[in-house]
Amino acid sequence: MKEKLLNEFNLRFGTTPIIVKSPGRINIIGEHTDYNQGFVLPAAIDKAAYVAMSLREDAEIHLVAMDLEEFYSTSLDELKPVQDLSWPNYILGAAAQFQKKGIQLKGFNAILLSDVPIGAGLSSSAAIECATTFALNELLGTRLSRLSMVEMAQKAEHEYAGVLCGIMDQFASMMGRKDHVIRLDCRSLEYQYVPLQLDGFKIVLFNTNVKHSLASSAYNTRREECQQAVSWINEFETRVESLRDVNLSMLDQYVRPRNELIDDRSRFVVLEIDRLLNACKDLEQGNIVALGQKMLATHDGLSKMYEVSCRELDWLVDEVRDNPDVLGARMMGGGFGGCTINLVREAAVEELTQKVSMAYEEANGLPLTTYIASIGDGAAVI
Ligand code: GLA
Repeated sequence: MKEKLLNEFNLRFGTTPIIVKSPGRINIIGEHTDYNQGFVLPAAIDKAAYVAMSLREDAEIHLVAMDLEEFYSTSLDELKPVQDLSWPNYILGAAAQFQKKGIQLKGFNAILLSDVPIGAGLSSSAAIECATTFALNELLGTRLSRLSMVEMAQKAEHEYAGVLCGIMDQFASMMGRKDHVIRLDCRSLEYQYVPLQLDGFKIVLFNTNVKHSLASSAYNTRREECQQAVSWINEFETRVESLRDVNLSMLDQYVRPRNELIDDRSRFVVLEIDRLLNACKDLEQGNIVALGQKMLATHDGLSKMYEVSCRELDWLVDEVRDNPDVLGARMMGGGFGGCTINLVREAAVEELTQKVSMAYEEANGLPLTTYIASIGDGAAVI
């Protein structure tokens, strides 16, 4: 990657750039909990976005997406979201945050190359936002903390991609640590690195290779539905700020009688926050069987109560649900396509992958892509 980027950069811009690598992520459990101020358990993976960048003397911004062979250019005084391409928005959105902080931005050249599959629920966009923020911080000498950069990258997604995401993806991409998952409290932003010890098991990702078009609008709607539940509860319980503060009896009293759909949505989140806390205990005790059971319960909740799954994801989970070599499986990330995450007995990985791939293709008319997740470090200059 590094050589390829250096050569291309030199050819195109005639200078030597810095190169920043920022990874995609997985999440063990705790889905749609981040924007409800709950907990998440993500980790950075060994697939990443790479941004090569150098500053310019003028106010222009020249961008290249190397794999797509696409180009985009604009200037500092015209920074705004782009309508017909998506990738420039992750870079421009990140750059715009520097301006918004009152930092004097400079023109720059950037080349993007990424091996995080797009639309797979592995946060390919957060990886680009974090890599861009990190690179600009280096080049401008702004010495921002990693946490400020996480928040800037998240705002890039809100303002330039229009997805009102939580903080999990950017946090994992920026703060990941090799062989550890991050137990992150999305309210206080306190976090601990927990060693991921899955003796004899591997994390296998099955990519449905579908991304349904509803994904970002439905995501924003879920956020509003959770907010609706909070404001109804708030009429009686004034100290409740988010679903983090809500328990099942509040839902029974104040939400269920008013609207069953809003109750299903918020009940899933309340149960999921609790499930994550118990799953952390399972991990500490090395009880992978119990962890796996919780992942299956998470999937069922995401599918039936939160309704962010899709036919292909449900098919993949059902296919392995009763397989003794698979301890847990669930859809991962925002939903409506992307990957399932599976806890698979190491000795069975190859055979299972082959079997599921063939059956998936036959049943769904689509290829299945599989990855064995390996957990790496967060953003860095390489
Ligand atoms: C997407 C968002 C995250 C998080 C997940 C669901 O990946 O970017 O903030 O909400 O969906 O857990």
